[in-house]
Amino acid sequence: MKRWNLLAVIFCLTVFVIASTAGMNHHGGGGTGGSTGGNPSATEAPTGFTTPTLADNPGSLSVSNGLAEAAGDTFAEDQATFEEAEGVDKGLGPLYNARSCADCHQSPVTGGISQVSEFRVGHVDHSGHFVSPSITINDGQNTVPNRSLVNDRAVCPEAQERAPHSEFVRTFRMSLNVLGDGFVEAIDDATLQAIAAAQPKLSGGKISGEFISVPLLEAPGQTRGGRFGWKNQQASLLSFAADAYLNEQGITTRLLSTDTTTVCKDPNIPDPEDHPDAIGMADIDHFAAFMRGTNAPPVDSFLMATPDAQAGQQIFNSIGCATCHVPSITTAPVGTVINGGTFVVPDVLGDKIIHPYSDFLLHDVGTGDGIVQNGPSDTAAKLRTAPLWGLRTHDRLMHDGLSGTREQAISRHGGEASDARRNFQGLSSTQRAQLLTFLDSL
Ligand code: HEC
Ligand code: HEC
Repeated sequence: MKRWNLLAVIFCLTVFVIASTAGMNHHGGGGTGGSTGGNPSATEAPTGFTTPTLADNPGSLSVSNGLAEAAGDTFAEDQATFEEAEGVDKGLGPLYNARSCADCHQSPVTGGISQVSEFRVGHVDHSGHFVSPSITINDGQNTVPNRSLVNDRAVCPEAQERAPHSEFVRTFRMSLNVLGDGFVEAIDDATLQAIAAAQPKLSGGKISGEFISVPLLEAPGQTRGGRFGWKNQQASLLSFAADAYLNEQGITTRLLSTDTTTVCKDPNIPDPEDHPDAIGMADIDHFAAFMRGTNAPPVDSFLMATPDAQAGQQIFNSIGCATCHVPSITTAPVGTVINGGTFVVPDVLGDKIIHPYSDFLLHDVGTGDGIVQNGPSDTAAKLRTAPLWGLRTHDRLMHDGLSGTREQAISRHGGEASDARRNFQGLSSTQRAQLLTFLDSL
């Protein structure tokens, strides 16, 4: 009886949540004055796993979301560049994690997710602030300064990084899906700020997503709302592409032109190692074009149409999961200038309704890994709400990949998500099964 009362209260609250979220998405507002993508004629973003990975001729069977290509470029070429395995002749390393973007962003198609994890470490200073380590390599003769990432591979044994024991903050980070990220890039900052502003009211003051502004590599001196990476450490796909090319593959670019070490670096390959091709595009430009051209991850439409999944979706909304895992967001209007004036939202990405099941904000749900990247010190305890679109395409869950089942991932939610976890634990076994069926359809 008691539980029923609780559910009734939650249900009423949720109707309010949904009503206000809908208002926010479709009619603008949110009190920040900026556009929240309020075009009433916004349409659903295209979805589909349409970038199959092929051993030969990558991209030849792929279909993009229709993004206009630069003169001389094709989507197949963009995907081929994303899949291309680099060698030392192209500047790979000296420190690196893998040889191509697709090594870690591949399942079930190029740009999807993977089981590959990375290693980050650091320590805390006397005033409690996270400090990135300086790691000595080459028998103590050289140092890789101020970097929390520890690369798992090197082109020679002298360059190999090993975490010093003094770096007691240690975590793994799972790879992320990049499919549909062009739509995420096209979300207006004001939309994310409006979602953050609404959360305390929706949760009795318990949930309050943090919006952080981070530097844009392609627009020096300018910042934008972070939305990419587990810590929202980047705001644009071009910035992330340059960050990834250097830190995952050791390849320097016009945006990040210094290698992490010169130990075993080939002196005949000067920085930046990524050069414009015959049509004037460097690899990072092709990576950004590929990611912007992908469709959003599709739901399993068969499972989603079942009564169980539908009931599960209602439960997901009513027990408070949707306060952070926001079901629908509308992108900025076509023509909006973003990324510090360097990118104009094109017609295929603007005024689109997406279903990312994320607010792209940072929260303390009790799993904070202690690492700070591009955000203020308090973000050490926080992580971005994991987007649940494409959830069914991977098994190891949470930032560290240490939750092997969906139930385990949910039961690790504490902090701001404590009420949602408690509500989940209070569900009947039928309701739980329905919720999990819904998650399996994403
Ligand atoms: C060794 C594996 C690995 C390689 C290689 C790799 N990535 Fe990633 N990628 C990751 C991991 C892990 C994350 C999450 C990083 C974090 O937030 O700590 C990530 C996150 C991203 C994101 C953010 C996605 C989102 O929605 O938040 C983008 C974009 C991205 N990678 C692009 C690239 C590009 C482009 C390349 C090739 C230059 C690349 N990655 C190469 C592992 C990899
Ligand atoms: C306060 C915000 C918040 C609420 C409420 C919340 N989550 Fe989360 N969720 C997060 C964050 C943040 C993460 C990432 C945590 C991490 O990786 O350590 C996450 C991760 C997840 C993951 C793992 C996804 C992956 O790809 O690894 C699942 C599944 C999930 N949440 C489901 C739920 C469900 C179901 C509910 C409701 C019972 C819920 N969440 C409520 C913020 C929230």
